[in-house]
Amino acid sequence: MSEPLLQVNHLATEFTTEHGIARALDDISFHINKGETLGLVGESGCGKSVTALSIMRLLPKPIGNIVGGEVLFNDQDLTQLPADEMHNIRGNRIAMVFQEPMTALNPVYKIGRQLIETLVLHEPEMTSSEIHQTSVNMLKRVGIPDPENRMYEYPHQLSGGMRQRVMIAIALLCKPDILIADEPTTALDVTIQAQILQLLQEIQQENGMAIIFITHDLGVIAQLCDRVVVMYAGRIIEQADIYALFDAPSHPYTQGLLKAIPGIDKPAKTPLSTITGMVPSLFNLPSGCRFQNRCPYTENRCIDSSPELDQVKNDHWVRCYRHKELTGAKI
Ligand SMILES: Nc1ncnc2c1ncn2[C@@H]1O[C@H](COP(=O)(O)OP(=O)(O)O)[C@@H](O)[C@H]1O
Ligand SMILES: [Mg+2]
Repeated sequence: MSEPLLQVNHLATEFTTEHGIARALDDISFHINKGETLGLVGESGCGKSVTALSIMRLLPKPIGNIVGGEVLFNDQDLTQLPADEMHNIRGNRIAMVFQEPMTALNPVYKIGRQLIETLVLHEPEMTSSEIHQTSVNMLKRVGIPDPENRMYEYPHQLSGGMRQRVMIAIALLCKPDILIADEPTTALDVTIQAQILQLLQEIQQENGMAIIFITHDLGVIAQLCDRVVVMYAGRIIEQADIYALFDAPSHPYTQGLLKAIPGIDKPAKTPLSTITGMVPSLFNLPSGCRFQNRCPYTENRCIDSSPELDQVKNDHWVRCYRHKELTGAKI
């Protein structure tokens, strides 16, 4: 197997808040290969966005800090890079799209200016007419009708779906090796969502970029991803290739998420039908397994101590005492 493109090792991230220090990421490790789509899934508040922001070094300063671990990309640890080198990597090599495009788009600049500024920054050798043409072509590529005229419009003149496409266009302009897409379709209706997912897949097939796709929706993961990382309360609780995850979901939390996928007989956005309760606050984590107060199988050992993330099969890792015992994995 080829070298991973990006390798996250034992990443720990904390926020300093008025209530104390919150460890939002605790010992997060995963990798992504070239051309692969990795899904990062979990309910709201599990640490998906903080993972993305930590990789990109976009944590809110001064309260958000990486306090341990490393993020290896091209033999460099991104957590240690000087700010100017990280600035080069961001956008050029690793780009990110957010759930709410207005957080990334500048409301007072026309769309064209925002595309052009990206290219001026990252492709300094391009002439201004090349820059203009590349921008228009990219708008066309992401499915924006009448792209020449759209260049002269402001973000608020576009629909949510079109704004999301503009943000994807900006992210793709510099042909990143990795695109981190943080719930890019969550705010959009199902038809637009399907179009955007298809667009990402097409572009990936053309240029071979890797995608880290963040979502709370395993249905979307099923359509898109090669491998999946399931997060719960700042930790990874299961990690598997897509077939293993859907054929043999092993952590009770993953099983609950799977049962909550909207089907034809269920309305969209059904809350977790099989798991009661909520993701715990980082200031009030239960002892032992972080899922123990919601798990249907909790026993004393789950309350006493936290299980490790154990390899149960080739490319399948689970953090659960019961599962380990059921599968006969060595403890
Ligand atoms: N700016 C912040 N200040 C304090 N805590 C934060 C901040 N951003 C995120 N967190 C905490 O980190 C945890 C993970 O959040 P996040 O990564 O945004 O979750 P999600 O999986 O929904 O993307 C949550 O408990 C959240 O409260
Ligand atoms: Mg998020």
